[in-house]
Amino acid sequence: MTNSHNQVYPVIWQNNSVSLIDQTRLPNEYTFVEISRSEDMARAIKTMIVRGAPAIGVAAAYGIYLGAREIETANRDEFLAHLEKVAELLRSTRPTAVNLFWAISRMMRTADESIGTVEELKQTLLQTAQNINAEDLQTCQAIGDHGLTVLPATPAKLTLLTHCNAGALATAGYGTALGVVRSAWREGRLERVFADETRPRLQGAKLTTWECVQEGIPVTLITDNMAAHCMKQGLIHAVVVGADRIAANGDAANKIGTYSLAIAAKAHQIPFFVAAPLSTVDFELSDGSKIPIEERNPEEIYQVGETILTPTGVEFYNPAFDVTPAELITAIITENGAFAPGDLAKSQKNAIAQQI
Ligand code: MRU
Repeated sequence: MTNSHNQVYPVIWQNNSVSLIDQTRLPNEYTFVEISRSEDMARAIKTMIVRGAPAIGVAAAYGIYLGAREIETANRDEFLAHLEKVAELLRSTRPTAVNLFWAISRMMRTADESIGTVEELKQTLLQTAQNINAEDLQTCQAIGDHGLTVLPATPAKLTLLTHCNAGALATAGYGTALGVVRSAWREGRLERVFADETRPRLQGAKLTTWECVQEGIPVTLITDNMAAHCMKQGLIHAVVVGADRIAANGDAANKIGTYSLAIAAKAHQIPFFVAAPLSTVDFELSDGSKIPIEERNPEEIYQVGETILTPTGVEFYNPAFDVTPAELITAIITENGAFAPGDLAKSQKNAIAQQI
């Protein structure tokens, strides 16, 4: 869904159901899927109709409400027991992005703590899902603006490299890494964005470029293996990526290929930023080695459309994410400001304190 300024909103509550932009069909088809049952929401997350850490958190929050309204009992304890089954189903969809678990926990806590009848509780759950949606949009705008404070001061117009899609499509709107790109564009600080194509699912080629084209942001697409060469040529002034889960020490899981990008950035003394809301930080994990990494169907590697790329007899390994060690990250840009990875704990204390 876009508004008159071509802003993209991938998850919208309307007509008593959830309207999702079908991200598996972009950029060739801009279509929507109407979701009115929790099982369908779980399927939409699993099949990546909706994807990107904050967006799947928002979608799962609505999924909890959709599940709640399917439960036919006026008994609170029975209702909560059934709702836990809905939560389990939604939690089982994708393992890495902690926003999914964060949003489900917030919804379940709301259910536990709310007083009133089951019918009232259902309305409170809808309101909470809508709040999560609205807050994420504001959070992304704040991340974008905080990003401006840490981008290199020179040259006046920067070329930023991004990986995967951490844009409006991956959030409630505006984006995290692409939020920084958008804010830089708005302030006249952006020359252009380089987008990695992001094998195997090509979120950079299909989604990031689509978003940029919608808004007239100049974008250059490269294949993933061209990034280090572009850095060496002096074409890139900073790298900005999103995250799916950040451990307490600042290690950050993001789309596969992010880690090698960070190594290349370090080798070329290029600042490497991770832009993410605090709902992406898992303070319970001391470091990134404990982040669960999703493995996806090898078809994503060996098949493009109807074409099989490989001979028979080949084995495959298809991790969807990797973990970039904190020491390769210049700063983590959150809605509360930008922090050195080691200072993440301070991000929770107050809004603009301890900025780097
Ligand atoms: O597998 P995806 O497309 O859900 O992976 C998305 C990413 O890795 C994003 O960079 C991340 O979720 C941050 S989105 C603001």
